[in-house]
Order: sequence, then C-alpha cells, then structure tokens
Amino acid sequence: MKYGHFDDTNREYVITNPQTPYPWINYLGNEDFFSLTSNTGGGYTFYKDAKFRRLTRYRYNNVPIDDGGKYFYIKDGDTTWSPGWKPMKTPLDSYECRHGMSYTKFNSSKNGVAAQILQFIPLGFWGELQKVSLKNTSSETKKLKLFSFIEWCLWNAEDDMTNFQRNFSTGEVEIQDSTIYHKTEFKERRNHYAFYNVNAPIDGYDTDRESFLGLYNGFDNPDVVNDGTPKNTVAHGWSPIASHYIEVELQPGESRDFIFMLGYVEVAPEEKWESKGVINKKPAKDMMAKFDTVEKIDAAYGELRAYWDRLLGKINIDSGDDRLDRMVNIWNQYQCMVTFNMSRSASFFESGIGRGMGFRDSNQDLIGFVHQIPERARERIFDIASTQFEDGSCYHQYQPLTKKGNSAIGGDFNDDPLWLILSTTEYIKETGDFSLLDEMVPFDNDASRAKPHFDHLKASFYHVVNNLGPHGLPLIGRADWNDCLNLNCFSEDPNESFQTTGNKKGSTAESLMIAGLFVVYGKEYVKLCKRIGKDAEAQEAETHVEAMIEAVKKDGWDGDWYLRAYDYYGKKIGSNENEEGKIFIESQGWCTMAGIGQEEGMVEKSLNAVKEHLDCDYGIVLNSPAFTKYYIEYGEISTYPAGYKENGGIFCHNNPWIMIGETVLGRGDQAYEYYTKIAPSFLEDISELHRVEPYVYCQMIAGKEASKPGEAKNSWLSGTASWNFFAITQYILGVKTDYDGLVIDPCIPSKWDGFKMTREYRGATYNIEVQNPDHISKGVKRILVNGSEIDSKIVPILEAGKEHSVQVIMG
Ligand code: GLC
Ligand code: GLC
Repeated sequence: MKYGHFDDTNREYVITNPQTPYPWINYLGNEDFFSLTSNTGGGYTFYKDAKFRRLTRYRYNNVPIDDGGKYFYIKDGDTTWSPGWKPMKTPLDSYECRHGMSYTKFNSSKNGVAAQILQFIPLGFWGELQKVSLKNTSSETKKLKLFSFIEWCLWNAEDDMTNFQRNFSTGEVEIQDSTIYHKTEFKERRNHYAFYNVNAPIDGYDTDRESFLGLYNGFDNPDVVNDGTPKNTVAHGWSPIASHYIEVELQPGESRDFIFMLGYVEVAPEEKWESKGVINKKPAKDMMAKFDTVEKIDAAYGELRAYWDRLLGKINIDSGDDRLDRMVNIWNQYQCMVTFNMSRSASFFESGIGRGMGFRDSNQDLIGFVHQIPERARERIFDIASTQFEDGSCYHQYQPLTKKGNSAIGGDFNDDPLWLILSTTEYIKETGDFSLLDEMVPFDNDASRAKPHFDHLKASFYHVVNNLGPHGLPLIGRADWNDCLNLNCFSEDPNESFQTTGNKKGSTAESLMIAGLFVVYGKEYVKLCKRIGKDAEAQEAETHVEAMIEAVKKDGWDGDWYLRAYDYYGKKIGSNENEEGKIFIESQGWCTMAGIGQEEGMVEKSLNAVKEHLDCDYGIVLNSPAFTKYYIEYGEISTYPAGYKENGGIFCHNNPWIMIGETVLGRGDQAYEYYTKIAPSFLEDISELHRVEPYVYCQMIAGKEASKPGEAKNSWLSGTASWNFFAITQYILGVKTDYDGLVIDPCIPSKWDGFKMTREYRGATYNIEVQNPDHISKGVKRILVNGSEIDSKIVPILEAGKEHSVQVIMG
C-alpha cells in the first residue's frame, strides 16, 4: 500500500494520507540552522547543535507519537482544524504534504477554506520561515481565527528533558508588537535568544503553555482555541510557548498570506541590553525586515531551489527506470547532504542529545556529498582529523558546536583511523586538490601539535600496523565498524555501556573486517604515496599490506568464507565451527572488495556463501544464524533479539559492500538485485510493512529471523546513504573518479541496453552514454571521447567549462 507518490519534476515526495505508518519527515536548513519537520507538522528546530542550542521542544517516544511541533490552528465557526492534520486531527476535505529539497509544503482544505504552508530556511539565514496562505473558496464571507503555536526548549535539550527542579523556574519571555522573544538565561552566560514573529498585526498572544492548553489537555484540545480567545499571558518559568492570534476575514475568493519567522540571534556581550531587563531586539528586527513581504520570501525560496538545482545538477542519470533515476538523481544525494549536516545527531530515531559527529561515520558520509560541496568536505576532513592523536587513534565522536573530541566516549575503535584515508583520497580524486595534504592540522585540537594532513593519514595507516594481534591481524579495540562486537568488554553489569567499557586488556581479539579495510585503504595509501612522489614510504607501506593479505589467507579463511574475528581467547568468530554466528557480512564485504585470495577462488566462494546464508527477500542480513543467547565474550551483538540490528538484521549500511564485492567478480545482475532490495523507492508499494519513508534509506530492516521480516527502523541518518550512492554510481554504473580522470567500467544487469549519465567533473561536463549491445554485465570494448577513440578505461580530465561526449561501448 502507498501513502503518496513521487513528483520527480518538482523533486518532491507527495504524501496524501497523513496517517503514514510512521512519521515521514524532512529536513530544513543547509548550514547552521536546522529543523526537522514531519508530515503532520511535528518536529523541532536548533542552531548548529541539536543538544546545546535547541530552540523548540519535542517529545520523543511520546503517546501518541510525534507530539510537539510548529502547529497552526484554524478556527472556522465551530470547527477547528490544522493544515498539517495534527494536532487537531480533524478530518480534512483534502490533505497533501510535499517534502522537497530542504522545504516542506502543506496543502489542505476544510469547509471552503484552503490553507497552504510553505516552510523553509533561507540560505545563510538563522531562521525558519513559514508562509501561511489562507484562501476562502466558499461563496460566503469567512471569519477565521488563526492561532500559531510553538513551545520553547530551554536551550540544552538534555537538561530540558531531565532537570525540572531547575528549569520550571527559569523560562522568560518578552513580547513586543507581533514578536514573542524567548530570553531564558539571557541575563547570565547566554549571548543568544530566539524569537517567533509574524509580519502582521496580531489580535492577541499567549506565552504560557498551561494557560494556553489547560493543565490536563493535549495539543489537540487547547483551552484558548476552544474558547476562541487568547489570554495574553506572559510566561514566568514553567513552560514558555509562543502563540500568535490573528482574526482573518476573507471574502469569497479572497486570500491572505502571513509570514511567520522563528529566528535565532547572537549578540555581543556589551550589546545585550536595550535597558535594564529589556533585550536588544535590533538584530532580530533586522532579520524580520529581510523577509517581511511575500516577494522577499518567494525570492528566497527561488534561491533555495536554484541552489538544489546546482547541487543535483552534478550527477544525473537516465537509466530507463524511474525508481533508479529518482534515487540517484534526487533522493539518495539529498540524504547524503542530510547526513553531512546531521551525522548521527538528530532524526526521529536519534534524539539529538546523544551522539555528535562520528569519526568513522562522518568520513564515510563524505563520499556521498564530496561532489556537491567539495569546499565544505575539505573543511570537514580537517575538523575530523583534528580529533586524532599522534599515534593515529582518535576520538570516536565530537560535538559540532565545539568541534572538540567527546571524552565521555573516548576512542579505541580500531577501524576509525582508516576511514580518514577513504575520505581524503575520495576528496582528491573528485577535486584534484592535493594541497590539502600539506595543510597543518592539529592533533587533539591542539594547534601547537599541528602537522601536515598527510601525517594524519600516515598515522592512521600505522595505527593498524602497530596494533596487530597474535595472527598478525588487526586488534579490534573496543569494536570495529560493528559497534556491537565488543570482544574485550565482558560485561555482566547491566549499568555499563558496551561501547565504552573494556573489562579485559585487549591484546588478543582480532578483526577480519579491519584486515579487509586495511588492505583496501592501505592500497589507496600506497597509491597516494606514489602519486605524490613518496616512493620510499609507498614501498614500506606495501610490505605491510602484503603481509596483511597473507595473514588473511593463512588465518582468516574458513574454507568457504572469511572469518569475522578472533575473540579474546583466540577462538574463531564467524566460522562454520561456531554454533551461531557462523558467517558475517562485514568481512565478506571488505575482504572481497580487497580482492584477497581472488586467484585462489576465495572471493567467489565468499560471495556465493553470502547469497546462500545471508541473503533474504528484504536484503542481506548481518550474520547467520543470529545469536539466541548472550555470549559474554561477544558483547552487545548477542543482546539483540535474533533478526534485529547487528544481530541478524539487514543492516543496510553494509549491503553495498557486498554489491561492490560482486562487481569485483563482474556479476552485475547479482549486484543490482541486492541494490533494488533495499533501495527505498523500490519498496514504496510495501510501505505498510516497511513503515519508514520510501524516499530515504534506513539503518536497519528486520531480517529473516525477526518476527516481522521487512519492517524497517531508523531512517535518514545512516552510512547507508553514502555507501549506496557510491556503490551504484561508481561501481554498478561504474563511473569512478580517480586522480587523473574518470574510470569507466560499468557492472550492470546483462539485460540492460545501457544508460546515460551526465557528470560534472573538475569543471567540465561529461555526457556519458554507455551502450551494451551484447548484453553483458562487465567489460568495455571501446571508449570514444568527443568522437575519437581512446586506448584506456580512464577518460582524462577534459577542458573545463565545456560539454564533452563520452561514448562507452561494452563488449
Ligand atoms: C551505527 C553507527 C556506526 C556503526 C554501525 C554498526 O550506525 O553509527 O558508527 O558503524 O552502527 O554498529
Ligand atoms: C548501539 C547500536 C549501534 C550504534 C551504537 C552507537 O550499539 O546497536 O548501531 O552504532 O549503539 O553507540
């Protein structure tokens, strides 16, 4: 069953039934100021950091779901309704929610009144705009009462949800004209406040939640709206809100537009006050003046759309299948930008208070957006690298506001450092900018310990070399990519964290996943060293990579697939000898991508085993059989019920590793089948089962041993986005960036006749047309650039500012 449809021309998903199987959300904002918005108007807003600078309140895991947001109430005679359906949930005559590129639009109607709300954050602006248009489509005069509603969060979202003894007494507001200012804690250490304004005279307001709703009422039954009369309350402590009240009279056919602005202001300490206790409103008023007319807001909306035209104009395909085209051209790229902005901090599953930017996560996310915003990718690489230590280890996470490593989580996830080689080399291949290698980048955020960025890569590489275990394989540390494989944790205490506790000294447990990862990015490191003339270093590094390959072949192969790890006692994990968890996806992915033992048939055997043991209708599960009891020596992985999360769930992030592995063998049909199993646009028809948005990837789909296989959770913030984009564009469609050009080597379903891709690269436009006359999966016979045949698979860097035709004939 479907709950809407794609509108590819407008790059929107159009939800036509508000009762989606889970809230289907969108993100507003592209730089510093962000909002999450659900298809019923739920969500919240923050400046830079969802934990430390939250502007509006939201209640996670509430009953009913998705409560709190930016709400509007329209009172028309005895009927009160909300254009987003919630909170009133009055049945609407029509409802439509259009989630687009950084904006959301509602179009709804009831009893002869049409309401449209357009919400977005203008580029470079610290405020969300809501254009509310009301139109009388009936033949009678309408006397409407419009109430806005937001609830302020007292800045620190964690404190706001926990520290009630304090925060019920701190809330403060000011009201002037049509603006409600939220100045909680402004008089002490905060040099910032927020405001909610409307560009029209108001007929009343409320700022005290209890007075507005009634102590025992929900958002769907507010006293003030029921009475149709505001109380003009001024909040002192408790829960401050901002609600405007406007009387709107509309003749038949008449319409009116209102512009609401939810803004954030920082003031220099010496300029905080207008007079004692009265905040300096000038910066807020300047912001309001910027967007006080419909023309100005429409222009800003036009700029936002043009911005996305540019971003999405860089890679475009025409494959003949709309489902694939809309993933590659629109939604997958969009999601990659959201992961750039949010890392794993704020979604409807990530509460915004726990995890900031992840070292491994953000490095991997980068491969999905580097072509869109290379300058910001460069800055991100330095931010991440700055949280590394001289020995190559690093903080696992950092806070976006401070950019400082998070010491509560610490480090010792031994895969972390290697991902820096991935992000850096992909950045250079996209841009040709080798200069970042020479930039001075701090260790541990200490400028006095800065070294050229290249030294960070070297430290990453040698962190593995210097931390090998008894079999010459990489020590796992706290965990590798799989946060739940906690081989040194041995936890018997339900109050300790699997991620941060190590009850044993970890000098034995080894990871085959890191081994494969090291071979892939070790080779990249060697290639880079050669490219920049560091030949001695390349030679030295090569010996370590060779040694790792040998170690995997010798002690990492189980006969039909690669092992997953050795545990603390030196026992095999992911072996046919094990009763449960006989085979794991991660090591099959990385060791096949690395091509380890390909000549000996290992790659092929491994991928056949994946098909046989891990594949199911909804994707490839992480391990099989899933664990059904707690193994103290394995940690969190064995705590999840079988079929969920890292225990036999389809953890979508790692499925593209297998797709890429399949392309090493040239099995395009198999690679693409895996792609379509988890690509959300291909799952639209089973939305009822899948539950989360059909336009973005989720972290996990319940696996074959789960009670409800196919049911998905944790949409949006997942490395799944970047890895699938990377797999489909660079390995399946096979247009891969390299230092000296684009390598074109598709690995596609044999029944395809070909496809087209437009690729902006180093300032030139490559119009690529791939033809597949013999219906094969892999193999390129000829490449013609602007009509002349070239004798390699690398299409060189072509003249910038021009369009070039690239014809690829497979065979
Ligand atoms: C989560 C984490 C990621 C980790 C993965 C597997 O998605 O964000 O860092 O690799 O889980 O445990
Ligand atoms: C849990 C989750 C894992 C996530 C980690 C982050 O272990 O299962 O997916 O990466 O928490 O802390």
